Amino acid sequence: MIEIHGLSFRYADADRDALQNIELTVPDGDFLGIIGPSGAGKTTLVHSICGLVPHRRGGDFYGSVTVDGMDTVETELTDLARVVGTVLQDVDSQMVAASVDDELRFGLENFGVPKDEIEPRMAEALGAAGISDLRGRVIGSLSGGQKQRVAIAAILALRPKILVLDEPTGELDPAVSEQIFRILREMNERYGMTVVVVEQKIMLLSSYAKRLAVLNGGRLEIAGPVREVLKESGRLEEIGVNCPRVVTLSRHIRDLTGGKIAATVEEAEALVREVLR
Ligand SMILES: Nc1ncnc2c1ncn2[C@@H]1O[C@H](COP(=O)(O)OP(=O)(O)OP(=O)(O)O)[C@@H](O)[C@H]1O
Ligand SMILES: [Mg+2]
Repeated sequence: MIEIHGLSFRYADADRDALQNIELTVPDGDFLGIIGPSGAGKTTLVHSICGLVPHRRGGDFYGSVTVDGMDTVETELTDLARVVGTVLQDVDSQMVAASVDDELRFGLENFGVPKDEIEPRMAEALGAAGISDLRGRVIGSLSGGQKQRVAIAAILALRPKILVLDEPTGELDPAVSEQIFRILREMNERYGMTVVVVEQKIMLLSSYAKRLAVLNGGRLEIAGPVREVLKESGRLEEIGVNCPRVVTLSRHIRDLTGGKIAATVEEAEALVREVLR
């Protein structure tokens, strides 16, 4: 579980808070999507969960963040990393090795995983990320989507309870983005991993996440089950978050549908059929 209470953070050289008084609880097994315009504080929140804030990014930190019972301020980054696996927004900066195999092996060795367990765990993680065929490849030769999956596999190999990803599909096309989210769903449903993901593609996010949190100007504006949050489509638009077209459509025909909101294309199709019947 992640518990965030009264979290405010201001970077050392900044003149305003990047996060203001955040209250958020993420229960075990949740799949939480974080959305919000650029500069809203999404990355700062992610860094607060994995401990980079305040351990690596200094500033004024108020309140508390507890991850699986550990206070992030009082716990060493390496201990936090055993529980929270993080894929950073700039995935290239996260890569430490020249080859796919070394990238996975490095993390496992660092965690002190026994030698005879390393190979099976690498194979399992690459399989889970759908990239067993990338074994032996040089990281510099991979596409953006492949690199993203290598970063995810390297984290999965460490078997964290909580997986945090900051815009993992940033530069990827829709089909590859969907593949990434399928991996996340599999981890969430099959292994009960808690998933927290920052994502701009709201339609995609809404089809996979269980809950959404909307940040704006450092504040947590709305948080709740996906459908509840999408119902606030007017407020989302004010904040500058583009609502999925299916949501806007169902808002426009709300009077005809008894207030139902579609969160997926399939649901929107059913709604329209209902209206036309
Ligand atoms: N290292 C830093 N030093 C000072 N200010 C920073 C630093 N990193 C971020 N900020 C500021 O903190 C605020 C929140 O930034 P953050 O990167 O968390 O936003 P974001 O929602 O992730 O944005 P984006 O969608 O562009 O990734 C912004 O005003 C930003 O300018
Ligand atoms: Mg960011």
